[in-house]
Amino acid sequence: MIHMRPNSWVSVIAASFLIAPFALAQTGGKTIDAQGHHWWQHAVFYEVYPRSFADSNNDGIGDLNGITSKLDYLKGLGIDAIWITPCFPSPQVDFGYDVSDYEAIDPMYGTLADFDRLVAEAKKREIRVILDFVVNHTSDQHPWFLDSKSSRTSAHRDWYIWRDGKGKGQPPNNWTSTFGGSAWEFDPKTNQYYYHYFYKQQPDLNWRNPAVQKAMLDVTRWWYKRGVAGMRLDAVDTLFEDPNLTDNPSRQEKNAFGDLLQEHKYNTKLPEVHEALRDLRKVADEYNSVLIGETWTANIGELNEYYGKGNNELQMPMDFLFTTVNKLSAPEFRKQIAAINSAAGWPTFVISNHDIARSFDRYGDGQHNDQIAKLMAALYLTLRGTPILYYGEEIGMKTTMPARREDVKDPIGRSGWPKEKGRDGERTPMQWDGSNNAGFSKGTPWLTVPATAKIYNVADESNDPNSILTFYKNVLKLRHTNRELREGNYVPLNQNDPNVLSYLRVYGDQAVLVALNMSGSAQTVDFKISKNGFASAKGLLATNNSSARGDIVKLEPYGVFIGQLVR
Ligand code: GLC
Ligand code: CA
Repeated sequence: MIHMRPNSWVSVIAASFLIAPFALAQTGGKTIDAQGHHWWQHAVFYEVYPRSFADSNNDGIGDLNGITSKLDYLKGLGIDAIWITPCFPSPQVDFGYDVSDYEAIDPMYGTLADFDRLVAEAKKREIRVILDFVVNHTSDQHPWFLDSKSSRTSAHRDWYIWRDGKGKGQPPNNWTSTFGGSAWEFDPKTNQYYYHYFYKQQPDLNWRNPAVQKAMLDVTRWWYKRGVAGMRLDAVDTLFEDPNLTDNPSRQEKNAFGDLLQEHKYNTKLPEVHEALRDLRKVADEYNSVLIGETWTANIGELNEYYGKGNNELQMPMDFLFTTVNKLSAPEFRKQIAAINSAAGWPTFVISNHDIARSFDRYGDGQHNDQIAKLMAALYLTLRGTPILYYGEEIGMKTTMPARREDVKDPIGRSGWPKEKGRDGERTPMQWDGSNNAGFSKGTPWLTVPATAKIYNVADESNDPNSILTFYKNVLKLRHTNRELREGNYVPLNQNDPNVLSYLRVYGDQAVLVALNMSGSAQTVDFKISKNGFASAKGLLATNNSSARGDIVKLEPYGVFIGQLVR
């Protein structure tokens, strides 16, 4: 621990320079800067939900050629890597998270040739392509499962988790599926139950079987050799189950599906998960690739386990604790940021995704939503760590839930209605322009385009210097060109301020000040800049009426000020 006077930035800056960057401890892959950072630490990632991004053949469903046609847009936005959610052959029960062939492309999304062209075109623009690897389960239509269920002695029987019931009509234990109902499905043909943490069409693989491990590692090799720069690993918490099938502790209250609430103590986060991740990491390192994890952790201790001892597991476990801050609150965000900065690895920030309601309405107050969208951008794009933008966040897309149960596409929305309306709301088509269907498709889009597309769309916002999109572009440009914002340490300031979240990003003896007003009233903050060895903060980027003069930063309601400290 280094102790310093709380108010002296000079000592803070000096001390933060002395702390060895975590990155230096990381193994594998090439480093790209003096701090020992890897390519993915400098990169800005963007999540593409392929069904909803751009439809090139007008069948109402987005596709790979659609993504390729938008690479110039992504380049212009400031994106270095795209993560495409599953585009493999799939019956689409869970919209691609039920994979029936890991080494092919679903015809609705295109062909392998289209994929290769996407990777090649992306490479020309220095954009890397990350795929989504559904490691826990396959589709029930995958040939492995079809063979597995064909007989108790089939070659793939032990590739999945089959058990006898406790008695007639009684599953092996009390485990429930996170998508509702028992996690066990009875197969009358072989008179046993198979286990599924998600839908019954998504049987869990048996990761204790070395043949499964080998097959899955080979899948990653196959894609890395095709030019893929990494994998987002789906649902890693759920890879292993207690072999004794101990019942989970449950409570009397019921969830949206009518099941008793239970703690998934014996079927998530088992220690064996980490062995599997270390194996996946070894292969990734051979190809200078990155592993991103869908890691739902209860605290930073659990997150640290996903980085692995000596950072030998996931380079980028997502910090979902950050998304649990569901209101604009400087103290709440300050707390989460401090927590992730004390973690054993490089932070990974998301503010929404295909499973989490969009930030525009999670944080918006209904009156200042555009301003708040900019504030959120200034937050997760200037923190120390790698951000993953969810498509559409950059134009202020809003969560648009289906109005009626019969319009719902996501199965959990149908079974959980009205308590759980599903995830269609955050998966609506990308809003490219103000035309019909927002320029997403000339056919009928698989999900209805929100009415707000007339105002919130790429074409119109590109021409508006005050738009959310222009703000995103400006922050990302700054991030790419300013070393402090890209690589610097995080130093919190004014930690008792209830309204304004402020911090420095410090690299060497240079510092950038970020001040974010999370309140609906104007704020004036005295940063005592002159007492801290600097003359002033020279504005780099600010919202309309926010500015700095001498020691004082003035912020409009939900205002943003980012400035370079000058001597
Ligand atoms: C992950 C995905 C989610 C999917 C689930 C089952 O949580 O993000 O969309 O439904 O895994 O594969
Ligand atoms: Ca299509």
